[in-house]
Amino acid sequence: MRNSTAVDDHQNLASKTYLSKAIDVFSEHDLDQLLIHCRRNNAATSVTGALLYHNGYFMQLIEGPLGAINSTYNRIQADSRHEVLSILFEDQISARFFPDWTMGYRAEDDMPSGSLNTIYETARTSTTRFPINDFLLMFGDSN
Ligand SMILES: Cc1cc2nc3c(=O)[nH]c(=O)nc-3n(C[C@H](O)[C@H](O)[C@H](O)COP(=O)(O)O)c2cc1C
Repeated sequence: MRNSTAVDDHQNLASKTYLSKAIDVFSEHDLDQLLIHCRRNNAATSVTGALLYHNGYFMQLIEGPLGAINSTYNRIQADSRHEVLSILFEDQISARFFPDWTMGYRAEDDMPSGSLNTIYETARTSTTRFPINDFLLMFGDSN
């Protein structure tokens, strides 16, 4: 979903990426409802980002004004439908990775085979390198 109204104060732009585990399996309907809700909230708060769902695990990147990222993440973390396992990346950024997406989405069926395993494996085993490039590749043909 496009979010063309975001005008960024670059001093104040933050990004956060986490890995979480769903408590119960999310059906396609559950995921659709989740995305509708996320996109509505994020459009209202100038948050953009992307979400992956694979085999009961989520990986989500959110980005936007620091205050909006903190409050969005606090709500996400408190959500009993999943358990956050680790924060993979959190920092100030100078530009958005997903300026046009209130929440881009990929499920495992949409991804090149094996590619998500690379992301999860790197995220799980590396404490120094967040695989942002691998993550971005998943969304290379979003439009
Ligand atoms: C995997 C996952 C990702 C989520 N991502 C977002 C998000 O990007 N933005 C958001 O507002 N809520 C997100 N949520 C939902 C929040 O946890 C929470 O339910 C919602 O923000 C509450 O909004 P409300 O007060 O408008 O009902 C996510 C939930 C899950 C399980």
